Amino acid sequence: MSASYDEVRAASLADPDAFWLGAAAAIDWDTPPDRGWVEGEGWFAGARLNTCRNAVDRHVEAGRGGDTAVIYESPVTGTRRLISFAELRDAVARTAGMLAALGVTKGDRVVIYMPMIPETLFAMLACARLGAVHSVVFGGFAPPELAKRVDDATPKILLTASCGIEGSRIVPYKPLVDEALELARHPIDHVVLLQRDACEASMTAARDLDWAEAFAGAAPAPCVPVAATDPLYILYTSGTTGTPKGVVRQNGGHAVALAWSMANIYGVHPGDTFWAASDVGWVVGHSYIVYGPLLAGCTTLLFEGKPVGTPDAGTFWRTIVDHDVDVFFTAPTAIRAIRKEDPDGGFIDATGTGRLKAMFLAGERADPSTIEWAERHLKLPVIDHWWQTELGWPAIATCFGLGDTRRRAGSAGFPVPGFRFALFDEAGRGADNANDGRLAIKAPLPPGCFSTLWNNEAGYARSFESFPGFYETGDAGHIDGDGFLHIMGRTDDIINVAGHRLSTGQIEEIIAGHPAIAECAVVGADDRIKGMVPCAFAVVKSGASRNDQLASEIIARVRGELGPVAALKRVCIVDVLPKTRSGKILRAVIRRLVNGEDVDAPPTIENPDALIAIRASLRGTS
Ligand code: COA
Ligand code: AMP
Repeated sequence: MSASYDEVRAASLADPDAFWLGAAAAIDWDTPPDRGWVEGEGWFAGARLNTCRNAVDRHVEAGRGGDTAVIYESPVTGTRRLISFAELRDAVARTAGMLAALGVTKGDRVVIYMPMIPETLFAMLACARLGAVHSVVFGGFAPPELAKRVDDATPKILLTASCGIEGSRIVPYKPLVDEALELARHPIDHVVLLQRDACEASMTAARDLDWAEAFAGAAPAPCVPVAATDPLYILYTSGTTGTPKGVVRQNGGHAVALAWSMANIYGVHPGDTFWAASDVGWVVGHSYIVYGPLLAGCTTLLFEGKPVGTPDAGTFWRTIVDHDVDVFFTAPTAIRAIRKEDPDGGFIDATGTGRLKAMFLAGERADPSTIEWAERHLKLPVIDHWWQTELGWPAIATCFGLGDTRRRAGSAGFPVPGFRFALFDEAGRGADNANDGRLAIKAPLPPGCFSTLWNNEAGYARSFESFPGFYETGDAGHIDGDGFLHIMGRTDDIINVAGHRLSTGQIEEIIAGHPAIAECAVVGADDRIKGMVPCAFAVVKSGASRNDQLASEIIARVRGELGPVAALKRVCIVDVLPKTRSGKILRAVIRRLVNGEDVDAPPTIENPDALIAIRASLRGTS
C-alpha cells in the first residue's frame, strides 16, 4: 500500500534532508546530491544537473521520443499541433544553438516577451539547456513594465513575436518591445523576432533578427550541466511598491520539487496529460505548463485562448475530452466566466469530461459557490490549492496523488509535505489557529521555493524578518478544528485581479504621476467574475482643472504604464480622502464602502465627512 498523506508529511518534517534527497532520485544528475539544505547556498549544493535534459532529452533516451510532449491547441488561430519528445528535443536544441550563436552562455539573462505558442516553450527550455537564465514577461504588461524588467535583469537578448492574440483582438507586441527598449537604460545586443501569420512586424536594422532565419541556420546545442544552486529563471512579480520583485529559482530544488508535486499532489505519471490553463508569463505557467509536466514525462497542453469567447464557454471541456486530459488546473475566475455564460453546465453535459480525474484551482481564493457549481456539473473532485510566485509550487493542497480527497469549500486544504505553517498576530506573537492570523512558513523553505530576489538580497531577507525563523507569506488565514487551512486574503496592498497579482500601491504611484492629481487611493473592489478589480479615488490639485476627461485620462495612464492587465475601469474624483489624525489614508474603510458594507466612522478619523463624499462618488460610478 502506498504511504498516506499523514505518513509522507510526517517523514518530510522529521528529516527534511533525507526526505528530499529521496525525492531527488526522480531526477537525472550529472553529479548526484549528497546534501539537502545548505544554509547560504540552497538545496542540493554541490550537485550538478541540466533541467532541460531532465524535461526533454532523457525521455527520448528512455525510448519515449515518439510520445507526445506538447499539445498546442490554439482556438484563436485555428491551429492544433502535436509535438513529440524527439521533435521537442530537436526544436529546443536548435533554439539553444540560435541563442548560443548570438553569444548567450551560462548565466546570461534572456528576456522572453511572447504569447502562448510552442516557440515560447522552446525558448525557455533552450535557456535552461545552455544554463542561461530566462525571464519571461507577461504579454499584458505595458512597455514601462517591460523596461523595468530589462533594466533589472540586464539581458543580452530579448525574444519576442510579432503579436499576441487576445480573443478576437490582435495585440502587436513589437511596437511595445521597441518602446520598452527606448525607455530602458540597459542596451541589449539583439531582439529575435518571430513573425506570426496574423501580423507582420517591422525590424530595426542591426539590432533585430528574424527568428525563422536564425533558427534555420542554427546548429543544435548540447545540454550544459549547471550547479543545482545556479539560477534557472527570474520571474518578476508585484511587490508592494512600483518596483517588481525578481523571484529567483534555482535549478536543482526546482526540478526535484516539481517532479515530486506532479506525482504526489496532482497524481499524474509519465504518459498522462496535464493541462494548466494559465499563461507562461505567470508562475503557474512556468511550473505547470512548462517544467512540471515535462520533468515528470507527462504530455503538457499549451492553450492559446480564453475560457469564454474562443469560441464559446465549452472550449475548456471540448479540449479536455479531445486530448484525453487527465488533470486540469485553472483559476476560479475562469470558472466564474464560464458559469456566467453557461449557468446550467450545458456545454459540460454535451461533451462530458473524458478521462479527467480532477480539477485544481489556484491564483485566488476559490469561493464556495464556484466550487459547488463546478463539482455539481463535472461530478469530479474540484480541489482548491494555494501558492505564490515566491514558493513556485503549492504549499497548501489536498494531495490527490497521495490518495487524499478530503475537501472543504472555502479552504485551500492541508499543508503540503515539506511546508510547516504557523500563524502570528499583529505583534508577532504566535496566534491561535482558530482566528485569522498572519500566515508564515518555517524556514528553511523546502526545495523549489525562491532562493533570493534578483539584485535585491535585502528584500529577500525582509521576507524572513517579521517572524524570525519564518517566511512571511503576506496572506492571512486560520486553521479549523479538522486541520483545514483557510486563506482569507492579503495583509498588504496586493490584490488579485482575474488571478493576476497586482499592487494597488503601484497603481497609486502611476495615478499620482498625473499632473492634475494631488493624492489618491486604490482599493480592491469585489467583482463577480474577476474576484477583484481595482477602484481608484483621486483628489485634484488645487488650481488644476477637474474636467470630465480626468477619469478616462487616469484609466489610460494606468493602462499605458502598467498594462491592460490592470483592468482599471472605475475612477472616482473626490474632494478629499478619509484620513486618520496622523494623516494615514483609511484604505480599509474605503474598501469596505466600495464593497457595499455599512461602515461607521472609525474613532481615529480626522474628517468623517470624507466618508459621505466617497459614498456619493460611488453612486456616480459603478
Ligand atoms: N497580452 C496582451 N494583452 C493581454 C494579455 C496578453 N497576454 N492577457 C490579458 N491581456 C489584456 C486583455 O486583452 C484585457 O484587455 P482589455 O481590457 O482590452 O479587454 C486585459 O488585459 C485584461 O485581461 P484579463 O484579466 O485576462 O481579462 P479578460 O476580460 O480578457 O478575461 C478571464 C477574463 C476571466 C476570462 C481571464 O482573465 C482568464 O481566463 N483568467 C484566467 C486567469 C489565469 O489564468 N491566471 C493565472 C493564474 S492561474
Ligand atoms: P501569485 O504570486 O501571483 O501566484 O499570487 C499569490 C497570491 O495569490 C497569494 O499570496 C494569495 O494571496 C493568492 N492566492 C493564490 N492561490 C490562492 C488560493 N487558493 N486561495 C486564496 N488565495 C490564493
